[in-house]
Order: sequence, then C-alpha cells, then structure tokens
Amino acid sequence: MITLGGLFVTLEGGEGVGKSTLQATLLARAQSEGHQVVTCREPGGTPIGERLRAALLESADGEIDPTAELLVFEAARAQLVADVIRPALQRGALVISDRFADSSLAYQHHGRGLPADVVAQANAVATGGLTPDLTVLLDLDPSEGATRRGKIGDYLEREGDGFHARVRDGFRTLAAAEPARWIVIDASQSADVVADAIWTALSAKL
Ligand code: TYD
Repeated sequence: MITLGGLFVTLEGGEGVGKSTLQATLLARAQSEGHQVVTCREPGGTPIGERLRAALLESADGEIDPTAELLVFEAARAQLVADVIRPALQRGALVISDRFADSSLAYQHHGRGLPADVVAQANAVATGGLTPDLTVLLDLDPSEGATRRGKIGDYLEREGDGFHARVRDGFRTLAAAEPARWIVIDASQSADVVADAIWTALSAKL
C-alpha cells in the first residue's frame, strides 16, 4: 500500500446504482468545508483515457476479447493514475473516483471469468500499487439498477442478467474480504440517505 498524503476514495457498484450523483454530492460537501477535491471517472478522465473509453463502450456486442477488454481498462487506468490521481494525492487533495481497480475484479474476473490473479496483476501494473483509502460499494439489485438507468446503452449494459448478478456478487465478495477499506451501502435508499451515510464515514478520515 502506498500513501501519498491525500485521501483516495473510490465509488463502486453495478449499473445504475447512483455513483455519479453520490460523487457530485460528496464533491459539493467537501468543497464547502474547504477541502481541495479532484473527481474523476473510469474508464476515462484523461484525453487518451476518454478516447479508449469511446473505443470500448461504442464497440459491438461480442467484438472485444476479454483479455483485450481488461487491458484497455488498465491502459486508461494507468494514464489516469499518472496524470490525475497520483499528482492530486501528492498535493494533499481528496480524490473521489467513479470506479477504479475493483471494477476490473468485479467485471473482468467475476463477470467475464478471467483468472483473479491475472486481473490483480494487471491492476498492480496499472496502479503501481496505489490502493484506495476508502471504497464505497453502492449495492443494488441489478434489475433495479436497470430500471433506474432506463434505456439500454453500451455493450456491457446489454450483458445478460447472469453477468450483472455475478458482478454484484463479486463486489460483495471483494468488500467482505477487506472490511477495513470498504463501506457497503444499500443503494435502494434515497440519494440523501446514501450521501449522508457516506459523508459521515468519509469526513471521519479527512
Ligand atoms: P459507464 O457508462 O461509466 O457506466 P457506469 O455509469 O455504470 O459506471 O461505463 C463503464 C462501464 O465499464 C461499466 O459497464 C463498467 C465497466 N468497467 C469494467 O468492466 N471494468 C473496469 O475496470 C471499469 C473501470 C469499468
């Protein structure tokens, strides 16, 4: 584990669980208390990362090999860590990332079936060993997430119910294995209740 001075918080979960709404609320609260905050999202968050994101998410169903998919997520992640996350933490900022390396374990290992050690090694290469100080799991039944999200979008959202169920269980397994880092919250609650609970946990670490 590497400590750079700031606080690194990641938001994780399946589709339509409310990560971006929570991120905006946490940003506003932390800024109103005078904290230096940097927000980002994966895949993306840098010019190269956004191009990789578009290439991935605009691809056709079944077009991408699972290993190629993993490595594109990891390439975008490596760029984001180098250009945005590491410099911000070195300045002492609070970094709140919508998804990070745990998404690769949940989607590419638990969802796709790539070996856990392969995904963990790829994560280690992309992050240089950088680990979040706090990870929030917004836990929600995938069918409720799909209803909230509305129309079916990219090829990952179009994956079947079994895939999304494995991703959800995968996140819960990851959280259970490292309870000191993770907070699991029932994301079927109102956005205000979720944000209040997470803010209480986060501000204790600021
Ligand atoms: P996005 O539109 O940002 O979805 P969401 O709003 O649910 O975060 O698309 C990101 C998609 O990429 C999402 O389906 C999760 C997936 N993903 C992976 O499969 N592996 C990863 O490592 C990351 C970061 C995302």
